[in-house]
Amino acid sequence: MTKLIEPNGYYYMVYINEISKYAGEAATLKGWVYNIRTSKKLIFIIVRDGTGLCQSIVAQDDVPEPVWETALSLQQESAIEITGIVQADERSLGGHELHVSGLKVVSQAEEYPITPKEHGIEFLMEHRHLWLRSRKQWAAMRVRNTIIYAIHRFFQEKSFIQMDAPIFTGNAAEGTTNLFETDYFDRKAYLTQSGQLYGEAMAMAHGRIYTFGPTFRAEKSKTRRHLTEFWMIEPEMAYYDLNMNMDLAEELVEFLVQEVVKLNREELEILERDVAKLEQVKAPFPRISYTDAVARLNSPAMQDRLDGMERERKAEAESLRKELASLDAEFGQAKKGRKFQIDRRRGDINARLDQVEEDLRNIPVWKKSALEKKWGEDFGGSDETLLTMDDPTPVMVYGYPAEVKAFYMKRDSENDKVALGVDMIAPEGYGEIIGGGQREDNLEILLERIREHNLPQEQFRWYLDLRRYGSVPHSGFGLGLERTVAWLCGLKHVRETIPFPRMMGRLYP
Ligand code: 4AD
Ligand code: MG
Repeated sequence: MTKLIEPNGYYYMVYINEISKYAGEAATLKGWVYNIRTSKKLIFIIVRDGTGLCQSIVAQDDVPEPVWETALSLQQESAIEITGIVQADERSLGGHELHVSGLKVVSQAEEYPITPKEHGIEFLMEHRHLWLRSRKQWAAMRVRNTIIYAIHRFFQEKSFIQMDAPIFTGNAAEGTTNLFETDYFDRKAYLTQSGQLYGEAMAMAHGRIYTFGPTFRAEKSKTRRHLTEFWMIEPEMAYYDLNMNMDLAEELVEFLVQEVVKLNREELEILERDVAKLEQVKAPFPRISYTDAVARLNSPAMQDRLDGMERERKAEAESLRKELASLDAEFGQAKKGRKFQIDRRRGDINARLDQVEEDLRNIPVWKKSALEKKWGEDFGGSDETLLTMDDPTPVMVYGYPAEVKAFYMKRDSENDKVALGVDMIAPEGYGEIIGGGQREDNLEILLERIREHNLPQEQFRWYLDLRRYGSVPHSGFGLGLERTVAWLCGLKHVRETIPFPRMMGRLYP
């Protein structure tokens, strides 16, 4: 709290998220005009200051003429300092409003490109630097912040040491095809895909560590789950086997979800996230072997389940279309207030219809892909959706075919074709949020894997040393921050989960 000295006395500079403490007192908000509405003798300014929104009311009869004139001149996003008496009002945004006595323009904004009308996604992406100020984007970034802080708390309270892996690397961790190459003083260097290999070295020094940093993938995938630059959290633990690894992943994810549910009520509401779904995310999460997962996909029960889903969606689409037709018929004669209601409802129905129609297009594809899935193939997005559709929690799939996994994965001692890897798949179609597993700790076997994968042995000399000097069983995993944010916020596309997304075809702003 800062006391501001004004010519006519003391005012508190107040942040909107703390405004309730100042009910009945004079306060100054410093922020921007989020929205402005003028009636005959009143001007309603919704002010945003980064912490929240507050309605401010300028009454022509109560303020000196220049204040009224200044208020009339304001543009959306003009920067202002606004002073008045804080008044509790349940009907108002955030439960309080400001009855204005003074107003200062810090800088008048030009005509703002983002208006309350709908904009296309390309336009919004081009204006990402401004779009960040919009409500849903604001809410998503706050959820992201909660998750970041909660991740640090989770690990720090368990005495994990946070350590950073390098970003320039000389070798690939996850396979060589999707690296960004840079010129490093006439040598080749790559932007890291994963801090894991370095994490393993750090775990041998500190026992349990986690990295938290940007990672880069040059995959040419234009999906709603892929960024070229994303943030990954990679714990690595000495003396952990696959089961301990899964226990930790499950505990972490449960904690993150419940922290967001507890701390971000308002944000989740702005995002129109179904909080009941998140509340159900409690350990234990189902664990299913890859082999059983394939069998489940292939099963007649899966086909029946999808047929049932198709029937449900068809019936829903029909009833939504009927409702839409009857609203359309009513609209012409409806009164103004009712027209507004109809419009809102039509918007909701159309959004749901889009989703239902997408499902109806997808279901035949899913059915075919599930039926034809063979042991040895990796899972795609649709397989992941099907494997999680009956659970409110994520599902952990473990024991993948070694062929589809990285060179460092330890194999199952009972079946050499199986790698001790685990993926955690989020529910509601959000896909893989965690990949990890137990690492190969035997020098000879690791050497063989490096040869099999045609990797440059010289580059891995240091990594192999870890197996020479006190090698122990160890495990770890990588949590994708943006995919986690997308899931918890209910955002379909990861581009809205990071301040400035980097994707194929997007480097601006
Ligand atoms: O499954 P991945 O590739 O695993 C690793 O990199 C391991 N070295 C991690 C480890 O064991 N320490 O990536 C881990 C997670 C994925 O589950 C996903 O959430 C996220 O990182 N991820 C991406 N997120 C956004 N865009 C991309 N292109 C991503 N690729 C992976
Ligand atoms: Mg993976």
